[in-house]
Amino acid sequence: MGKLGGFLQIERHGVPQRDPLERAQDYREFQLQRPVEELRDRLGLHRRGARDFLDALVALDLLDRDNDGYRNSAETDLYLDPAKPSYLGGMLEFHNRSIYLPWATLTEALRTGEAQTEFKDEEDQFAAVYRDPDRLTALLTAMSGYSAGSAIALANTFPWDRYQTFCDLGAAQGMVPVQLGLRHPHLRGVGFDLPQVQPIFEKFVADYGLSSRVTFSDGDFFADSLPPAQVYVLGHVLHDWGLDAKRSLLRRAYEALPEGGAVIVYEMMIDDERRTNAAGLLMSLNMLVLSHDGFDYTGADCQGWMAEAGFRESYVQHLVGPESMVVGLK
Ligand SMILES: C[S@@+](CC[C@H](N)C(=O)[O-])C[C@H]1O[C@@H](n2cnc3c(N)ncnc32)[C@H](O)[C@@H]1O
Repeated sequence: MGKLGGFLQIERHGVPQRDPLERAQDYREFQLQRPVEELRDRLGLHRRGARDFLDALVALDLLDRDNDGYRNSAETDLYLDPAKPSYLGGMLEFHNRSIYLPWATLTEALRTGEAQTEFKDEEDQFAAVYRDPDRLTALLTAMSGYSAGSAIALANTFPWDRYQTFCDLGAAQGMVPVQLGLRHPHLRGVGFDLPQVQPIFEKFVADYGLSSRVTFSDGDFFADSLPPAQVYVLGHVLHDWGLDAKRSLLRRAYEALPEGGAVIVYEMMIDDERRTNAAGLLMSLNMLVLSHDGFDYTGADCQGWMAEAGFRESYVQHLVGPESMVVGLK
């Protein structure tokens, strides 16, 4: 299959409906080549590095080049054009703005065990970040880009036909509720998150035409009652917190579930031997530099905490790339 075939195939994965004329315009844009001089002018690049930079992007398959100039590769056009609803570059922007610098002092974090962010002295790091509306939007958008692949895999692999309701705890912008709602018209779901998240979640869900089946509930998942549901999802949430908090969230989910209910935890799950999933291990170091006591963990670790919480059975299943889910059944 050529690149355009891949492009069309990728596009079928639940992005909001577009006007056909707008899509034709997208396609014409996608075809346009830009000579190096034009790109230098538009991007304000100095002559010295411009060609190497653009050709490095060609070598990384992020741009295509022919005699007429450069254009986006099919995947770049779909996922890294901020004007498109399928844009997934929020996580790259978030890395640029909030993660790059804390990693520069990794040595300090390794020697002290302390977070390296500007909010490291604040007790609740999410509340600190959310004081700035730009950072709030940036974090939530970034999470959508990060979680899109797992959300689609989760919608396709879990036996959703056995359940009618779900609640995504720490739902951020709502990528998981949206993908579940798109793929399974019988499901009704709730995104549960801090109150600041509500307008961003509701707009995202409305853009996909799902507001009648996917709603928002605000609260603190450590203190407030959890909205009733047959399945709770905890995606990229447990790794933000220390061991006691991880256990407490699983216990709270267990207590709120009906008999026969399920909890799904998905994460860049470290392999049980802690040898091969480099992305999962690096993500755990990411939690070292970004959070007070967060860390990533293996599927077996999570299954152990689920058993302690009371779940009668659990299993680990791969989702996509370095991500897996652990399912606990009550
Ligand atoms: C790392 S993000 C994960 C987002 C999403 N589940 C995903 O996989 O993309 C963690 C989420 O937990 C939410 N959160 C943090 N503390 C919370 C609390 N005490 N109660 C409810 N939600 C909280 C944050 O607002 C954020 O949306």
